[in-house]
Amino acid sequence: MPGKIAAGNWKMNGAAADLDQIHALANTHRASPVDILICPPATLLTRACKAADRSILIGAQDCHPETSGAHTGDISAQMLKDAGATHVIVGHSERRTDHQETDDIVLQKAAAAHAHDLVAIICIGESLTQRDANITLDIISEQMLGSIPETATAANTIVAYEPIWAIGTGLTPSTEQIAEVHRFMRNALKERFGSATGDAIALLYGGSVKATNATDIFAVSDVDGALVGGASLTASDFSPIVLALEGA
Ligand code: PGA
Repeated sequence: MPGKIAAGNWKMNGAAADLDQIHALANTHRASPVDILICPPATLLTRACKAADRSILIGAQDCHPETSGAHTGDISAQMLKDAGATHVIVGHSERRTDHQETDDIVLQKAAAAHAHDLVAIICIGESLTQRDANITLDIISEQMLGSIPETATAANTIVAYEPIWAIGTGLTPSTEQIAEVHRFMRNALKERFGSATGDAIALLYGGSVKATNATDIFAVSDVDGALVGGASLTASDFSPIVLALEGA
């Protein structure tokens, strides 16, 4: 069974004053059985590690596929590791849209994360048009094959199912819809990487997770935690989600 993970993605939000939120989370959940991860903007990584005081894991939101070189403005997996990160999100739908990232680029980024001893949180998910066209599972299958590298193991990979239409909208799929996709992802991982690895890779749900829906979402089988955007920005919003996962 994968461990449980409550992951927060701060996106392009957060300044020094917000490190207090990480501090507060660390204090509240010092002995949590759940892995708590916050992915602040890169500008805060090192300071966030200090504020986390080893009670909370700190991750990044993206990495470049290469280790170093002439790539102005980019940050490599090796640099993130050096800054104290343990995880990196790759292939978030906002990066796929804003920066035209393809499955192949996402795969290269995940492989770079693995090469530098970071856990890659690989994001996939369908658009509303694709769901309405009844091709959700085809899209999930294609993205999993294209974005998850051969180097994936249960120790270095987490897959996050994030339907694009649920991100930041307040809309969430029904628990049946989440269950269907998570079961499909679990089976696809088992088929590709073998039962032991496929069963042990953590699967997160993401998209408008809040204190009010977290308990229902965490009760779905093959949901090992959540990737949370808006509701991860403050300890008072995120903490109840962590508690719901602890009780799941
Ligand atoms: P949201 O974002 O929780 O604000 O919907 C989720 C995500 O993008 O990971």
